[in-house]
Amino acid sequence: MSKENWGSRVGLVLAMAGNAVGLGNFLRFPAQAIQNGGGAFIIPYLTCFLLMGLPLLFVEWSMGRYGGKYGDHSTPFILHNVSGGRSLWKYVGVFGIFTNLAVAAYYCYLESWTLAYVWRSVSGAFAGYDSAAVSQMFTDYVSLGTSEPIVFWIICLLLNTWILSRGLAGGVEVAAKVGMPLLILFGIFLAIRGITLKEGVDGAIYPGTEGLNFLWTPRFDSIWDFKVWLAAAGQVFFTLSVGMGSIQCYASYLRQRDDVALNAMSAGWMNEFVEVVLGAAILIPISVGYLGVERVIEMTQTGGLGLGFRTLPYLFQQWGPILAALAGMAWFGLLFFAGITSSLAMGTPVMGFLRDEFGWKREHAAWVFGGLTLLLGAPTVFFFQYGVFDEYDYWAGSVSLVVFAMLEVILFAWVFGMDNAWAEITRNADIRVPIIYKYIIKYITPVILIVVFLGSLSGDTGILAKIANKDIYAEIAKATDPTKIAELEKKRLFVNASRWLLVAVFALIAYMVWLADRKRKREGYIPVIRND
Ligand code: PHE
Repeated sequence: MSKENWGSRVGLVLAMAGNAVGLGNFLRFPAQAIQNGGGAFIIPYLTCFLLMGLPLLFVEWSMGRYGGKYGDHSTPFILHNVSGGRSLWKYVGVFGIFTNLAVAAYYCYLESWTLAYVWRSVSGAFAGYDSAAVSQMFTDYVSLGTSEPIVFWIICLLLNTWILSRGLAGGVEVAAKVGMPLLILFGIFLAIRGITLKEGVDGAIYPGTEGLNFLWTPRFDSIWDFKVWLAAAGQVFFTLSVGMGSIQCYASYLRQRDDVALNAMSAGWMNEFVEVVLGAAILIPISVGYLGVERVIEMTQTGGLGLGFRTLPYLFQQWGPILAALAGMAWFGLLFFAGITSSLAMGTPVMGFLRDEFGWKREHAAWVFGGLTLLLGAPTVFFFQYGVFDEYDYWAGSVSLVVFAMLEVILFAWVFGMDNAWAEITRNADIRVPIIYKYIIKYITPVILIVVFLGSLSGDTGILAKIANKDIYAEIAKATDPTKIAELEKKRLFVNASRWLLVAVFALIAYMVWLADRKRKREGYIPVIRND
């Protein structure tokens, strides 16, 4: 059994905040907000945060600490313990390893772009190019025109592996203590630039407040639109890293006397600050200032990556060479710190499982995680243009989260029992958790999750339509050019193949859980209960 602890409370909260604060805060959130009506998005978003996100944080933190008491550091056996040893729940826990691995696979690649773009910004690679040329640089990048993307990807994987191999106190905490303050600093610098952008200065056509108004003027018309609620719920999941298994894992390294309630709140609110204050004040005001709301809505249809990597580096050029280099370094540097403190959190559950169940050394487990991320990430790198990246993001980065969260909250509130659950949440708590959360966790959160899950099944963009590849078929039907049709057919092939790959990975992890369980039974495993 691996025994390890966090070094300090500050380190722990920063690591947990670093886990949550990720590329989702700066790229995904602004794009989602813009796509879902700006001010119309914020109301469902904050409601989902309070009724679903925060409750899930309490649930996952306390389940993690509870699992750690019995020496378990990954969700299969944490859930097994919480369920009182009922056998099927450990297979639900497979999600908590699968998701981390599959998300890490494409996320680390994305993270590596930010590193390359820091380099490009400081070396002046964008200077003197027009907007089409800067945008083209990104197209060339992801279509692997040179070996640069591969080099940065490998560097990024090595960096993750190395930090993970140094452990929590010596690696992850150090990364969070360095990365988080710098991220906030860079974020404040860019937010000030964004907000104070003036119409007519440096080529801007609108003031920075134009974009902010779009986002922050409440609009009640679309709160009856179910799709907006689904998008809001999806964003809350992704940004808080709930439904992933990484929070349970980090929390399982707490001491039993440690608080979870205040820690969970601190990390959760810190994430919200970074998301709705900093995340909202950079990409939107700057791009709206130069392009206008209409154009930005159009450009975020496929997410925030285009604006972040194609447009912003060009817009920064309008500020003169020195500020452009600084802004580029701050923007991509901030994304890099946001990314790495999250990908480290994705490595820990995988390592925890291998160490607990198969007695692996930390360094070996870290290398295996790095290797698996490389293998599973390779299709997203080499077949990016065939939609493999997006496919991983869809299944692992959104569908799995909802399914897992729904099941774990039912387990905690209804199988473990709400009285026991409440006792766990409030045990050694440094704040008084409002009692209303006992009822929210028992009734409201599970109902919301069931509704979100059922609601995402049907419709043109629902899970069932996705399984049938309705979107690709529709594109094929519209296309007339035979080469375009052939490309789309190829895309369908790659999309299907990556789906089966993900299913195979899930099945393999389930098999390992079965092996681990058999090993435990054979060896007559008795947990060493920690009471520190
Ligand atoms: N919350 C992270 C983000 O906003 C993503 C993440 C997913 C982090 C899974 C850890 C685990 O980008």
